[in-house]
Amino acid sequence: MGKKITVVGAGFYGSTTAQRLAEYNVFDTVVLTDILDGKAEGLALDLNQSRPVEGFETKLVGATTGVNGEGYEATADSDIVVITAGLPRKPGMSRMDLIETNAKIVRGVSENIAKHSPNAVIIVVSNPLDEMTALAQIATAFPKNKVMGQAGMLDTARFTNFVAEELNVPVGSVKTLTLGSHGDTMVPVPSRCTVDGKPLADLLPAEKIDELVVRTRNGGAEVVALLKTGSAYYAPSAAAARMAKAVAEDSGAVMPVCAWVDGEYGIDGVYLGVEAEIGAEGVRKVVEGDLTDTELAALKEAAEAVRAKQADVADL
Ligand code: LAC
Repeated sequence: MGKKITVVGAGFYGSTTAQRLAEYNVFDTVVLTDILDGKAEGLALDLNQSRPVEGFETKLVGATTGVNGEGYEATADSDIVVITAGLPRKPGMSRMDLIETNAKIVRGVSENIAKHSPNAVIIVVSNPLDEMTALAQIATAFPKNKVMGQAGMLDTARFTNFVAEELNVPVGSVKTLTLGSHGDTMVPVPSRCTVDGKPLADLLPAEKIDELVVRTRNGGAEVVALLKTGSAYYAPSAAAARMAKAVAEDSGAVMPVCAWVDGEYGIDGVYLGVEAEIGAEGVRKVVEGDLTDTELAALKEAAEAVRAKQADVADL
């Protein structure tokens, strides 16, 4: 049987993710849900009507859900669930400003998902990302490898795009890496950044690299400030959809994701942005790469910052 995936939340992030997933043509069904009456159904209807033009057979199903679990039957037995539910930032807000509001939403969604899709792999994208990922694991009580968050793919994509624009080279020739949190303690890894295999440090002065790192760290806020309402969704949905595809295809692709780290890099028991091998069971394993002493110290600092916040969400 083909795979079933649910995207919770039919805002721009959720609906764009559903579109990308459907256009891959690898899933039987993409279920899109929202609490706004008819919104998910309307978008699913519209997306289904794009099938003959785009040439995909995946069926989209829309469902209006309620906080008491109404409508979740449509999501039953999903193999993968992408949780986009929650509020986006407004200009001037940090992702952390969303923690209380989004914790309530993500907890409720996670509990309902766990009831109807007890074997699903969960991909969280709601903000603040590292904390909401930790909360989804607590609320579902799923094995930790089956719950992960999307951030590293996005931050890395932003960094790569900025480097490619700066050097006026194809994005395909640039490799970058960011680890740590999806926030202030994002950890760029310059030692793993190359252009056509050459170290980035040989091609750009240190101040320029720092500037691009700062722009990457503020990448989400820069988009929010321009949009004025809502936050980024094209690059975020591309990243989340690729993670879901790796799970669906059991591909073993190694990607930067927010995963449970327990011992790797000498860091214990925290959800943190690291590279991981992704398969049908979610995170197959965290892949420990070589880091310089400075990079490792920054990753450990990020781990302690998110650990403190993740302890807070358990009570939200
Ligand atoms: C961003 C939000 C989605 O980084 O976290 O754009």
